[in-house]
Amino acid sequence: MSIFLDCINGKDVNRPPVWLMRQAGRYMKEYKETRKRAGSFLNLCYNSELAAEVTIQPIEKFGFDAAILFADILLILDALGVKVDFVEGLGPRLEPIKKIDEINNLINPHDIHEKLNPVYNTVSILKKSLPSDVPLIGFAGAPWTLATYLINGKGEPGSVTAKKFLLSNPIEFERIINILTEATIEYLLMQIKAGADVIKIFDSWAGALNADMVLTYSLNPIKRIVSEIKKKYPKIPFIVFPRGVSTTYSYFSEINKFDVLAVDQFLDRHWISQKIQPKKLIQGNLDPIFLTLNKDILLKELENVVGSFKKYPFIFNLGHGITPDAKVENVKALVEYIKEINM
Ligand code: CP3
Repeated sequence: MSIFLDCINGKDVNRPPVWLMRQAGRYMKEYKETRKRAGSFLNLCYNSELAAEVTIQPIEKFGFDAAILFADILLILDALGVKVDFVEGLGPRLEPIKKIDEINNLINPHDIHEKLNPVYNTVSILKKSLPSDVPLIGFAGAPWTLATYLINGKGEPGSVTAKKFLLSNPIEFERIINILTEATIEYLLMQIKAGADVIKIFDSWAGALNADMVLTYSLNPIKRIVSEIKKKYPKIPFIVFPRGVSTTYSYFSEINKFDVLAVDQFLDRHWISQKIQPKKLIQGNLDPIFLTLNKDILLKELENVVGSFKKYPFIFNLGHGITPDAKVENVKALVEYIKEINM
């Protein structure tokens, strides 16, 4: 009954399913109104009714084939006892770990649920209110990306601070990755229990790692998370997004336990179709900038993306999240274009 789940499960579909990263966000006036009512971004994430409301807004407005839980990858750090703030116009600001022994102050991964309960509640509300053909994607940040925020205190180009930390203190860094991995397993199990149909893991800063580090600090912890969860829920599909990892995407395509590989906009589409698509269902990779331009420029690029990927089934999405300056009429045109494809 869902084209998105059918495609993931290898059934025949006559067009790519479509949803967009950050489909609920500031490019929508409905989102901005609800966010204003919530008072702040964090209040919105922790208010289950309002978080469910903004999750559904883009489904009703554009007719996407999947919904993504409204929350943020940094909530789990908040639950681990790291002070998280979202500063208007700047993005996330956290109280980073400054001394190695501060790792001991993190809350036990088993004890994160009280704080995260509103997120599980949002999932339950959504399961009751989403149309039956629109599955719900739950998500978490990958341990490496969470570690960069824990160590840098904010997003940092090249994640230099976290990279220096891991190279200078590999044993302590491993401990951090283990804590974050355990917490993420706990968190995702609860999202699935509450009703999430698919799980996506965002490794947004994986591209800052050198190739050998990608395997150790991005791929391995993600593999562990997926394996542990599939022991309990063997059928739950996983979308893995190691953003920016270039040719090491091919290592991710070899992992049988991953169901979908989300590809960023910097990868060569010809390479994707030759090296990745024969091995793995992909999702991506329109550059979000096209949603901010004239409609005819967007339509031409849609033709390029679909033309490159259409030899195999694929899930249509962006290479990264929608930006606040995306045009609503472009999002409408995009969904219309994809829904008219007949493969
Ligand atoms: O619609 C959806 O995709 C679901 C909700 C969602 C948000 N963040 C809402 C959000 C999801 C899946 C995320 C994931 C997330 N959060 C990631 C991974 C994906 C990616 O973009 O690489 C990361 C790195 C974060 C951390 C984060 N949260 C940053 C860096 C920022 C600031 C960037 C910005 O656009 O301002 C946020 C804030 C955030 N998360 C917003 C939204 C809608 C904007 C906040 C606002 O309304 O003011």
